[in-house]
Amino acid sequence: MSVCINLDGYTALVAGGSSGIGLGIAHKLREAGAGVHVTGTRASAGDYGADDLRGLSFHSLDVTDADAVAGLTAEFESLDILVSSVGTVAYGGEEYEIETFRKVVDVNLNGVMHLCTCFRDLLQDNDGREGNIVLVGSTSSYIATPGQPAYSASKGALLTLTRSLAQAWARRGIRVNGIAPGFVKTKLTRRSWEDEEVYRASTGRIPLKRWGEAEEMGQAALFLASPLASYITGQMLLVDGGITLL
Ligand SMILES: NC(=O)c1ccc[n+]([C@@H]2O[C@H](COP(=O)([O-])OP(=O)(O)OC[C@H]3O[C@@H](n4cnc5c(N)ncnc54)[C@H](OP(=O)(O)O)[C@@H]3O)[C@@H](O)[C@H]2O)c1
Repeated sequence: MSVCINLDGYTALVAGGSSGIGLGIAHKLREAGAGVHVTGTRASAGDYGADDLRGLSFHSLDVTDADAVAGLTAEFESLDILVSSVGTVAYGGEEYEIETFRKVVDVNLNGVMHLCTCFRDLLQDNDGREGNIVLVGSTSSYIATPGQPAYSASKGALLTLTRSLAQAWARRGIRVNGIAPGFVKTKLTRRSWEDEEVYRASTGRIPLKRWGEAEEMGQAALFLASPLASYITGQMLLVDGGITLL
């Protein structure tokens, strides 16, 4: 699909851009002309798929490491777009254990908040160009995911964090929005799409009758990050094939 949004000269950072939805977003921003940096938890780009990170600058980052998040800002002279696609989940009822609950919330919410606050000044001071943030929430930002209280609570909080930061930072010229994906085949959701029965049942519940693609999440994020969305802030866009309509 051809891209009609021109981000030549823009710099973007996609935290959690080493795989899945974040990687889809990173490549859409790159195709639109932006210089794109991504982060992942592994030590180097070579630890990921051979061609996955082609054309992207890689940084190793664990968002629960506060010093590392703050230190990453030193590697940027300017930043126009910050995306956070960082996310984790625990299965098998583990999220009802308080230690696991804390760990998931620490990544999905506290780590994302710290990213936003650390990069705020860079997003504000970019030669008069308005900066913006796109957070990756989930349908779980709106409805409960069975058996996953930490994931649901952290994603619900991202919805109100999006609104809160949008309100607070509008005067700094920073827009803050989010996307809320439905089902997408990634390593996070492997358990569901590898189980034929679960996969078929979930697909049957989606009005568009298919799972989404990471590229489609990238298209929605690209729109929100671009000047086409210059008057949109504090919104989280459901990109879910209609599954939350039911
Ligand atoms: N897939 C879906 O159906 C779906 C639906 C709704 C929302 N989402 C959301 O989409 C986002 C991306 O998930 P995905 O499905 O694309 O899964 P994914 O491929 O596993 O991507 C998760 C990303 O987060 C990074 N990450 C994990 N823990 C981290 C930590 N402690 N610090 C920094 N980065 C960390 C991962 O790095 P590594 O690659 O090094 O592990 C990876 O880049 C998540 O926020 C998820 O909740 C996914």
